Amino acid sequence: MKSTALPGTVLQPLAKMTTLRIGGPARICTIVERAALAALPDLGPCRWLGRGANLLIGDEGVSEPVLRLGGDFDALAIEPLGDHALLRVGAAVNLTRLISTCMTAGLAGPEALAGVPASVGGALCMNAGTSTGWIFDLVRRVEVLLPGQREPCWLARTEVPAVYRSAGLPAGTVYLACEMLLPYGNPAVLRARANELKRHKAASQPLSARSAGCTFKNPAPDLPAGRLLDELGCKGLRVGALEVSPVHANFLVNLGEGRAADAVELIVQLRRRAWRERGIVLELEVETWNCSDRLRSHPEDG
Ligand code: EPU
Repeated sequence: MKSTALPGTVLQPLAKMTTLRIGGPARICTIVERAALAALPDLGPCRWLGRGANLLIGDEGVSEPVLRLGGDFDALAIEPLGDHALLRVGAAVNLTRLISTCMTAGLAGPEALAGVPASVGGALCMNAGTSTGWIFDLVRRVEVLLPGQREPCWLARTEVPAVYRSAGLPAGTVYLACEMLLPYGNPAVLRARANELKRHKAASQPLSARSAGCTFKNPAPDLPAGRLLDELGCKGLRVGALEVSPVHANFLVNLGEGRAADAVELIVQLRRRAWRERGIVLELEVETWNCSDRLRSHPEDG
């Protein structure tokens, strides 16, 4: 397998690869050639890392190799197709690059995702989005490596059971690329729309703090977890260096040398409060690696 580093060679702290800046060590490997995909099932269980913007990793790190995509998977191509354009983009491409390339080319749709910190692969995996749309609203086909397979395949949008914050494909699916069929739009209008979304985020979210974005899924479209936790007086709650953001109550921010154990304890406290005071079971939106099972048990048992 040609890669920048082979699994098993270098232990690196995962904290520096996540926006929350928490996480113990793991063996990291970047897959740069498509030819390497065929050997993946021989590695056994692996974990896939994008931009690390939605991840809480345990203080002990993880024992499985952590794989990233680069090289062949960092490509973006646009070709005209009738009165639309066909965009093909690799999973390693930064979502911000995708959005800005489309706005410059006058291609409408991706600007709805402005301000979402993600790689394209990470965004596909969790069906990332904003209040105005999800990535799977735009996707025509997605290229994946299904668990245990050696050959990638393309799935039509209709074959992907995407829902709020999940592509809905089996755990272990690797997202390699996607295609979008995009209509043309006025670049100035697209930029204005993106800027409006980013303004809303800058005014309502702690963007410069270390965080993993929203901690919990919204229990319902008309019941945002942030508003609920705010109403329950959770802003400013702290465990160690982890704090419920005073700006947006669904964000946990790492004020310094935060530890996963502290994040777990704070999350347990928030879930318990939402259950006891409102009868609501908050479900995690952040992905967790090798963290406590308390995060998924009933709030009273956490
Ligand atoms: N609100 C409060 N207090 C708070 C936070 C929010 O009262 O502390 C209120 C707001 O005033 C607003 C409502 O709750 O009336 C919804 O808040 P917001 O507009 O911030 O949206 P959200 O539902 O909290 C969702 C996504 C965000 C995305 C924003 C903007 C989820 C869990 N979160 O947040 O996504 O950036 O819309 O599009 O779906 C993420 O996925 O990590 C994420 C940050």
